[in-house]
Amino acid sequence: MGVGTDGHDRSTGAKLTGTAASPQLGRAGGTGRDGQKNVSLFRRIFLLNAAGLTVATALLLGPVTVSTPILPGEVLVVVAGLAVLLVVNALVLRIGLAPLQRLGRAMATADLLHPGARAPVTGPAEVAGLITTYNTMLDRLETERATSSARALSAQEGERRRISQELHDEVGQTLTAVLLQLKRVADQVPGELREEVRQAQEATRGSLDEIRRIARRLRPGVLEELGLHSALRSLAAEFTTHGLSVRHHLDGDLPPLTEETELVVYRVAQEGLTNTARHAGADRAELCLRRVVDVDGGDGVELLVRDNGKGPGRLREGAGISGMRERALLIGAALSVGAGPGSGTDVRLRISTETGVSKTGASKTGASKTGASTTGAPKTGVPPQLRAATAFEGDR
Ligand SMILES: Nc1ncnc2c1ncn2[C@@H]1O[C@H](COP(=O)(O)OP(=O)(O)O)[C@@H](O)[C@H]1O
Ligand SMILES: [Mg+2]
Repeated sequence: MGVGTDGHDRSTGAKLTGTAASPQLGRAGGTGRDGQKNVSLFRRIFLLNAAGLTVATALLLGPVTVSTPILPGEVLVVVAGLAVLLVVNALVLRIGLAPLQRLGRAMATADLLHPGARAPVTGPAEVAGLITTYNTMLDRLETERATSSARALSAQEGERRRISQELHDEVGQTLTAVLLQLKRVADQVPGELREEVRQAQEATRGSLDEIRRIARRLRPGVLEELGLHSALRSLAAEFTTHGLSVRHHLDGDLPPLTEETELVVYRVAQEGLTNTARHAGADRAELCLRRVVDVDGGDGVELLVRDNGKGPGRLREGAGISGMRERALLIGAALSVGAGPGSGTDVRLRISTETGVSKTGASKTGASKTGASTTGAPKTGVPPQLRAATAFEGDR
C-alpha cells in the first residue's frame, strides 16, 4: 500500500493548496517546492514572447534593414529569425506543458484498486496546483472507496451468514425430520415398496449433505470454531475431487493474525481454489500459508494458491479477483495474480506486520490464540472495520 507515499503527497498537497486556489497570474513567482523558483505558466510564456519580440525589434532598429521591395538576402535573414523564434517558443511550451502531459497519463492509468500512486507535483504554479488538486481528489476517492467497499463486503458477509443460518436451521432441520420419517415408513411398508423408500432416503440424505456443504461455504463455521489452519485444511479437502488434488503446507509458527486478516486469508484461498477448479484445468494445486520476512525485516505472512494448470494467460480480472483485491486492501495486504513458475497460476497474498498481524498475540475477540491459530473463542466472522462501517448489519 502506498501509505507512505500518501502521507508525503498529502503534506505536499497541503503546502501547495494555496497556489491551487489562487493561481498568481502575471504576478512575480514565489519560491515553490524544495526552494525552486516557482514561475507561473503565464509569466514563462509572456517573458519568452517579450524576449523574442524585443530581439526582433532590436535587430530591426540596428543592423538589419528591410528594403521595399525586399531583397533575397533580407528574406533569408527574416525567415531565419522567425524560425529561431518559433523553435525556441515550441521548446519552452513543450517544457512548460510536460507536467500537464504527465498528469494526463497519471489520470489515464489511475486505478483505485492499486492505491497510493500519485502524480509528482512539478511544473509552473498553475500546473503544480492542478496536480495537487488532482492528488487530493485521489486521496478522497481512495478513502471513500475503501469505506464503501468495506460496507459492501460487510453486507455480503452478513447476508451469507443469514442465508447459511437459514439453510442450516430451516431447510436442514426439515430434511432431517423427513429422513427420520422415511426411516419409520421404511420399517412399516410392504417389501415391494421398501426399495423405493430407500431411494427416497438416499436422495434426502444427499440433499442434506449438499445443503450442509453450501452453508459451510457461505459461512466458514470451521474458521470461527477451530481457527484458520483447520478451515484451510477443510477447504483443501473440499476442493480435492477425483480430477484435482489439493495439498496444503501450513506453517505452525505463524505470527498471530487478527480476526479480520484470517477471514480475508480464508476468502482469498476460497476464491483462488474456486478459480483453479473452474478455469485452470489443473490436476494439482497447493495451498501454502507460511511465515515470511517482510521488506522492513518484520514478521509477515504469505498465502499462496498455486496450480499446475494452463496459466492465467492474458488475465481479464473479473468479480472474483477484484473481490480478492478489495479484501486485501482492507487489511493493507498485497495481492498478486500471475503466472507461476511452471505452466500454472499463482495467487499470492502478502500480509505485513504493520497491518494484518496482531502485535499483542491475541485476536480482536480477546481470545488467546496460538501461532497455529487452531484454538480460539467463537468469532463473529465479520471484521471489526467492516462492522464499524455498517453497524446496522447487526440488526439482521
Ligand atoms: N487459476 C487460474 N487459471 C487460469 N485462469 C484463471 C485462474 N484464475 C483466474 N483465471 C482467469 O481470470 C479470469 C477472472 O477470474 P475471476 O476474477 O475470478 O472471475 P470469474 O471466476 O468470475 O471468471 C477468469 O475468467 C479466468 O480466465
Ligand atoms: Mg472466480
